[in-house]
This record gives sequence, structure tokens and C-alpha cells, in this order.
Amino acid sequence: MSGAAVLELRDVHKAFRSPDGSRSIPVLNGVSLAIGPGETVAVVGPSGSGKSTLLALMGGLDVSDRGSVLLDGADLAAMGDRERAQARSRRIGFVFQSHRLLPQCSAWENVLVPTIPVRRAGAAAEGGEPPSARARRLLERVGLADRLGHRPAELSGGECLRVAVARALVNRPRLLLADEPTGSLDERSARELAELLVEVNREEGTSLVVVTHSVALASLMGRRLELHSGVLAG
Ligand SMILES: Nc1ncnc2c1ncn2[C@@H]1O[C@H](COP(=O)(O)OP(=O)(O)O)[C@@H](O)[C@H]1O
Ligand SMILES: [Mg+2]
Repeated sequence: MSGAAVLELRDVHKAFRSPDGSRSIPVLNGVSLAIGPGETVAVVGPSGSGKSTLLALMGGLDVSDRGSVLLDGADLAAMGDRERAQARSRRIGFVFQSHRLLPQCSAWENVLVPTIPVRRAGAAAEGGEPPSARARRLLERVGLADRLGHRPAELSGGECLRVAVARALVNRPRLLLADEPTGSLDERSARELAELLVEVNREEGTSLVVVTHSVALASLMGRRLELHSGVLAG
């Protein structure tokens, strides 16, 4: 499967320095996995087990101490910072527990933000649909057709996260990474967001990795991996 994998981790290790710098705190101790096109994976594990660290490495937001992370076969650690940032903005979408929307921008403008560096690099989305139209369509898709001009403060928590999902998809990523996306939501909004993630995965063919404490969300994923003592078990 390695040739076709969207994302592959090979023997990834990561440790952090203790705040006073005296000790090394090992977090990931040899994580390997491959995620195929369109695949859905839940990563579960106790708080502090390294799930967010793992997701940050998967998305090139941080680099491993040892081992490799291959995105469509290209080693993220071997890239320069600019190249890695480009790979990230074109191929990976992120959704976090807090929506991280820009407060002064409308929902529509927030969804358009990730298209700016990609357009600047002369790589506007192929397939004919201008980013502005795609942003509008995605907001309609996540059920916010009548909220395009609303700012985050004028939206509910669940609505803000749906804007964040639309934003994560706007550059047609190969991979969507979500870190406890339903963690701050009430039960009903959490269920709607979980269903939305699964639906867009099917429609867009985007691979999906979700870190979650929610048994309901994890059960919607095709594969479930547990992080314990720095290693993954299936
Ligand atoms: N930047 C950092 N510096 C030092 N320690 C960190 C840093 N980020 C995370 N850690 C430590 O790494 C461990 C795993 O954290 P994290 O990946 O956030 O776990 P999880 O998401 O599973 O709750 C924790 O013990 C945390 O304190
Ligand atoms: Mg976390």
C-alpha cells in the first residue's frame, strides 16, 4: 500500500524538553502507519498520550526527531519551511477543537483565507471553479447558505466549526486532519458535525484522520487506532 498511501509514517519518534530543559519527555516512540486515499481513521487514547502531537506531525505543523512522514510519497522533513508550508496548504485541511476563525472576517471570507497563498503561488484550483464560488458552495454544503456574511461572534459554536470544515476543504486537500473537532459541542451539534465529516469524506474522496474522545464519532471511522505509551495499536 505504501506507493499509493496519501500519508505514511515510518517509525516516528518525538520527545519534548521539560520546561526547565533538564529532561527529555518521550511522547511518540516509533509510530508507523499508512493512510490510503479516501480512508477514514480514528485516533483515540488518554489525555496526554500524544494525539495532538501525532496530528501536528502528520500535518507538517511540527517535525519528528526520528523517522519519516511522507505526504503523497514526499518526505515532509526533507522539505524547506516554505515548501512544507505549500504542501500543507495545498494538500492538507485542519479542523481543531476551537474553530480558530478570524473574528473580523465573515464566514465566506474565512473560508477563502487558505486560498490566498495558493493563488499567489500561481496554483489556483484547477477544474474551473473559482475559489469564491467554491467557498460559497462549501458553505451551502455545510448548511450555512444564509450565514455567508456573518462573523464568528454572530454564529453558534457548531456553526463556527462548520465554517472551519468548509475552510479546511476549500483547497481540495488530499487529507483532512481533525483534532477533537466535536469536543466543545453539545450532543446534537457534535452528532451533526460528525455526520458532516463523514459525508464530505465520501463526496470529496478526502482521507480523514480524527482524534476524538467521542465513541460515536470514532465508530463512524473505517479504522480505529489507539495511542498508548507512545505507540499505536490497531
Ligand atoms: N510543546 C510542548 N513542549 C513540551 N511538552 C509538550 C509540548 N506539547 C506537548 N507536550 C507534552 O506531550 C504530551 C502529549 O501531549 P499531546 O500530544 O497534546 O496529548 P493529547 O493530545 O493526547 O492529549 C503531554 O505530556 C504534553 O505535556
Ligand atoms: Mg490533544
